[in-house]
Amino acid sequence: MCGITGYIGRDEALDRVLGGLQNLEYRGYDSAGVAVTEPADGDIAVYKRSGEVDQLLEAAPAESPSRCAIGHTRWSTHGPPTDANAHPHTDCAGRVAVVHNGIIENYERLQAELSEHTFTSDTDTEVIPHLLEDRLAAGDDPVAAVRAVSDRLEGSFAFCAIVEGFDGVVAVRNDSPLVLGHGEDGTYLASDVTAFLDRTRSVTYLENGDVAVLEDDVTLYRDGEAIEPAIETIEWDADAAEKGGYDHYMHKEIHEQPQALRQTISGRLEVDSGDVDLEVSFPTEHLNSIEEVQLVACGTSYYAGLYAARLLETLADVRASVTIASEYAFEGGRDPWRTLTIAVTQSGETADTLSAIRAADQAGARTMAVTNTLGSTVTREVDDSVFIRAGPEIGVAATKTFASQVATLALVAVHIGRRRGALSSGRASELLGNLRDVPGAVQQVLDAEPDVDAVAAEYADSDAFFFVGRAFAHPVALEGALKLKEISYDHAEGFAAGELKHGPLALVTDQTPVLATLTDGGDADKTYNNIKEVQARGAPVIAAASSSDDRQVNEHLSVPDVGLFEPLVANVYWQLFAYHVAADKGRPIDKPRNLAKSVTVE
Ligand code: G6P
Repeated sequence: MCGITGYIGRDEALDRVLGGLQNLEYRGYDSAGVAVTEPADGDIAVYKRSGEVDQLLEAAPAESPSRCAIGHTRWSTHGPPTDANAHPHTDCAGRVAVVHNGIIENYERLQAELSEHTFTSDTDTEVIPHLLEDRLAAGDDPVAAVRAVSDRLEGSFAFCAIVEGFDGVVAVRNDSPLVLGHGEDGTYLASDVTAFLDRTRSVTYLENGDVAVLEDDVTLYRDGEAIEPAIETIEWDADAAEKGGYDHYMHKEIHEQPQALRQTISGRLEVDSGDVDLEVSFPTEHLNSIEEVQLVACGTSYYAGLYAARLLETLADVRASVTIASEYAFEGGRDPWRTLTIAVTQSGETADTLSAIRAADQAGARTMAVTNTLGSTVTREVDDSVFIRAGPEIGVAATKTFASQVATLALVAVHIGRRRGALSSGRASELLGNLRDVPGAVQQVLDAEPDVDAVAAEYADSDAFFFVGRAFAHPVALEGALKLKEISYDHAEGFAAGELKHGPLALVTDQTPVLATLTDGGDADKTYNNIKEVQARGAPVIAAASSSDDRQVNEHLSVPDVGLFEPLVANVYWQLFAYHVAADKGRPIDKPRNLAKSVTVE
């Protein structure tokens, strides 16, 4: 996701901030920029470029006497990665510069109010400097202006501003992280401590609503009152620091899911009315005539597609099929004019998926991409793109992108269902309410990680692992098994629970744990019948089950109540299980043997 850096102190601020941006490079980004306060006249100078920090280094001066600067690495969510869309963004007069992480949900409304201002980017961020410009013109000082503007923003965000004539940085946090670093030479500010850990390990984490003012000293305001910053010392080594304190990117990304999911749904759902805003341009008459939605995808994205197909059939009253992309062909009995083909691809570059979506396009179907990557190949080839906004994923085994793909596809299903008149506002409202609760439910699962660690340690040496589930829990069984085999190299299989008795039961022994998803949306009563069958053969059963479930199993992992999304939340237990089994075995978790993050050959 995007990265923020800032510095004020005795040393050259430009050098410090650029160094911070280089330290954040591992997170993945597509553009970078800095703004410095010129000491002579207090003017602000901005340098920004799409591409690598190296390209920014070429654009910025080699030296600058400035002692105060902010910087940003952007990972696009609103508008493609161009120089103009890179941060910092400025007001009309170039007197205010702002860097921002997160999403401003109400930016279109605010932009409409700012009709007198000239906007130069496609970003949601740019409303912030223009709003600040108005507050400063009305007589606010920079701190009061930042407070007032922050109060007007909806969504999860953090931003920092510098203002002409003010020798300091003002920063505010609301759901997106910000941390201060107390160095000997000055004060640092960043979205992630790794930006400045080579300078100081003495940090203060901002809480939601905190406003930090960095001048010669730091003042931290909480609920409007200046408070003494609580200082902590970071003990991680350099390698762990790069991974935000986790041993592996995969572990970090599993833990990023609540934030990733918040970004996915941010500004897109109206729970009260049951409406969804996806910024896509399907003509309603086309949606009404659609007979089939085809999903094409590979690997984990294919399993997200399976979840989505069921959602589409349940909510949008439309036939939905899912095809492994390398097996796709536009075959008989289908009318291309009545077909919507959706490529589900985190990277947007998977060769098999691109080949499938091209075949659909050539046949005349309407095409759409659900992807994590703005500007990727798939987005240039389809009629519409919807971005999952999960932030960059570095671990080869997909985790947070699966969750964000399912959440995005759920929004697509509700959107289509509502537009086709197949889904009542009441039912849509209930589902969107459940979806809004998913990030919190995932956090509860993450908080139970020590339990999963203990279960993983107990069963890690089993002969094989079988994951089972029905309905929405079936793709989760498949994904759970895939995660485990990818990173632990253990034999793991996922089955539709009802299929056990048609073959796989022959493999079940007391040395093959069965991992069952027994939740809402997963036909838990019927799945439990299948559990009885494996228990009769001596297999231990580990269940991710609804919190009220008191069925007899060996291990019970509790899933919060979020309706049809409970299997999606249960999946986080299976991610953690796979992670801890693999970690116990010392596997190279982020780079499993023989596998690649993005597969660009057919
Ligand atoms: C590779 C990765 C998988 C991923 C699949 C599809 O096989 O190892 O984790 O699910 O590609 O990738 P995509 O970028 O199209 O979602």
